Amino acid sequence: MTAIAYRPELPADAPLIAALIDRAFGPGRHAKAADRLREGNTLIPDLSFTAWDGETLVGSVRLWPVAIGGAPVVFLGPIAVEAELRKHRIGQTLVEMACEAAAAAGWRAVLLVGDAPYFGRVGFDAAPAKAVHMPGPVDQRRVLLKALREGGADGLAGLVTAG
Ligand SMILES: CC(C)(COP(=O)(O)OP(=O)(O)OC[C@H]1O[C@@H](n2cnc3c(N)ncnc32)[C@H](O)[C@@H]1OP(=O)(O)O)[C@@H](O)C(=O)NCCC(=O)NCCS
Repeated sequence: MTAIAYRPELPADAPLIAALIDRAFGPGRHAKAADRLREGNTLIPDLSFTAWDGETLVGSVRLWPVAIGGAPVVFLGPIAVEAELRKHRIGQTLVEMACEAAAAAGWRAVLLVGDAPYFGRVGFDAAPAKAVHMPGPVDQRRVLLKALREGGADGLAGLVTAG
């Protein structure tokens, strides 16, 4: 592995990212509630990052505009790292870069559906998301929020909608 390079997602990256996500999650992946927030939505390219080992795409994280009870936040996902290159903090770096870029762009909080033990390492927590309702069945313990500024996750409640 050479040094990993990180950069925002470009339109031309889309096919490589789709293939990486398919490999990472396997066939039959249907995170229904999260998919509903991505269908018909447009990812934010400046806040979506890719990781490269030379010319090879090895990681991707995507951020989408959503609203919680009408309050705009960004929704993170999917995140995927090529299996052979896991446990080198590529995933954590992608999440941190995306969160920093979102904070710099003025977003108040990041929402995701994922494993708390993993995302807790980078500041995500289920507690502030207790009143956040995903648009579909989901284990509420996996609905996580991270504030991007003091109090950024306070008072967020209601249905999550795309856009
Ligand atoms: C999750 C994923 C993106 C992590 O990428 P990564 O580059 O390996 O992540 P990092 O190197 O930053 O962190 C690795 C650490 O997180 C741990 N970890 C990975 N997935 C975890 C999970 N779901 N729950 C708890 N810990 C997890 C690893 O065991 C490792 O622990 P260590 O540091 O003690 O060795 C990658 O494993 C992946 O693409 N998985 C398949 C797709 C997926 O499940 N996406 C997330 C959906 S919630």
